[in-house]
Amino acid sequence: MGTDKDSRLNVHINNNNRSQHIIRRCVIEDLEGVIDVNERELPEDYPYFFYKSILDNFPESFLVATNSHGRIIGYVMWRVERIPAKNSLRLISKGHLVSIAVSTTSRRKGIASDLLANSMPAIEKSNITDYVLEVRVSNYGAIDLYKNFGFEIESIKKKYYRDGENAYFMVKKVDVIE
Ligand code: ACO
Ligand code: ZN
Repeated sequence: MGTDKDSRLNVHINNNNRSQHIIRRCVIEDLEGVIDVNERELPEDYPYFFYKSILDNFPESFLVATNSHGRIIGYVMWRVERIPAKNSLRLISKGHLVSIAVSTTSRRKGIASDLLANSMPAIEKSNITDYVLEVRVSNYGAIDLYKNFGFEIESIKKKYYRDGENAYFMVKKVDVIE
């Protein structure tokens, strides 16, 4: 659906028209801004080469949100993981939400929802069976966001985070038409 240009650029203007943001694919020049948002908003930080390798391998689902000044105020990145299917030697692919964050001053305007809505169809193209993610059990806002998108809590990963906090493992099945 849509042209390649459409899939790269999606301008959303929010209801009261006072704040507008653009969702587009991340390019290498954006990584510094992405890392800035990550370091301000999340305790899980990654080295530059990690972001670079996600961008190299899964560019279509690595999106950024920018404000009217072109400043990066949010990002989302996914990767595809190949794992053995239950009860079978067959490998299946899952889309793993690596990280999503929106700057504190730009929250509750639908930006994370825009990032998810635009990146999920992109990662789905890799023939995944499920979307999966881990989230801190205390991260109520993010958990609500994921539930809005149809994710369900499948299990708890004990002491998943370095500080000892548990994670919910959340899953959303891809609707398969066969
Ligand atoms: N409290 C309750 N519900 C929330 C909250 C919150 N703090 N944030 C989002 N939601 C739910 C609401 O239902 C909201 O709709 P509403 O505003 O109409 O009530 C809906 O999600 C959509 O919210 P958005 O505006 O799209 O989300 P936002 O742009 O504010 O970003 C995010 C949400 C990414 C969780 C942001 O709060 C953030 O960056 N937090 C810090 C980083 C983080 O925790 N990232 C997720 C880690 S897990 C992982 O990356 C796999
Ligand atoms: Zn939007």
